[in-house]
Amino acid sequence: MRRAETLANLALLLPRRPQEFRDRVAAYADLGLELLRRGSPGYETVSWPSAIGEIEAHLGRGTEILEEPALRETEQDTRRLLKDISGGDLFSPRWAADSRFARLCYLSCRLIEPEVTVETGVAYGVSSAFILRAIEENGRGTLHSVDLPPLRREYKKFWGIAVPDALRDRWRLHRGSSSRILPRLLEKTPTVDLFVHDSLHTQRNMRREFDTVWPHLRNGAVLLADDVERNRAFGELRQKSPAFWRVVKDRESSPLHGRAAPVMFGIAMK
Ligand SMILES: C[S@@+](CC[C@H](N)C(=O)[O-])C[C@H]1O[C@@H](n2cnc3c(N)ncnc32)[C@H](O)[C@@H]1O
Repeated sequence: MRRAETLANLALLLPRRPQEFRDRVAAYADLGLELLRRGSPGYETVSWPSAIGEIEAHLGRGTEILEEPALRETEQDTRRLLKDISGGDLFSPRWAADSRFARLCYLSCRLIEPEVTVETGVAYGVSSAFILRAIEENGRGTLHSVDLPPLRREYKKFWGIAVPDALRDRWRLHRGSSSRILPRLLEKTPTVDLFVHDSLHTQRNMRREFDTVWPHLRNGAVLLADDVERNRAFGELRQKSPAFWRVVKDRESSPLHGRAAPVMFGIAMK
């Protein structure tokens, strides 16, 4: 049913938004190729506690931020919201950031107090909500979120639903593929302090996003990427000589929805 709706909407898109039609077809082709290419990049990984220890060694703080009431509140609100919308939702609940990655978004944002944060991949807006709450605690900064939502009529009802109204002033939501939106956004906002990838996890798309944003990251800026185990794109970042590069592999202890799941994501610092 959903696939039929998507195909019908894709056909309707061609005359109305030919560029977006091309972007979506390219993404489907990319996903198909990725399935053929499947194979783990075999990264060396660290556990969550060890990553936090290293972050503390580099940036001076960590654990105390993870105990902030604002973070606890955001987790509780998100958990409640994801429970309330389960069943009637449009996005797949597994799209929402896992609890560890969401906490890492909050932590990074509190640690480096970014003026400009850019993320790709919104869906319900779980990562966006954690970043925006950290921005509120910092008292400054803007989050630009780039997302090409699913081709379904009702998507707007759920798009970014996890972001409370009170946090929307510092949020700029850009609709479209990251391949098209990122270069334009970076022309207007040339220096980025924090970048979060959580859109289409194909090698081509991840590599393109990293290559596009890297020259715009200031020294000391942080790049976070979810689901890095799918391909080699995050590993290729090492060729850019980052000051810090780690892949975290762990298991959630208190998930935001569903059962505790294994998680894997990357942290790099320029
Ligand atoms: C894993 S979900 C994002 C989850 C979100 N970060 C959260 O924590 O709730 C991926 C999102 O990326 C969007 N997306 C897929 N391909 C994209 C592309 N090429 N550019 C931008 N967004 C894309 C999907 O429609 C979906 O909304």
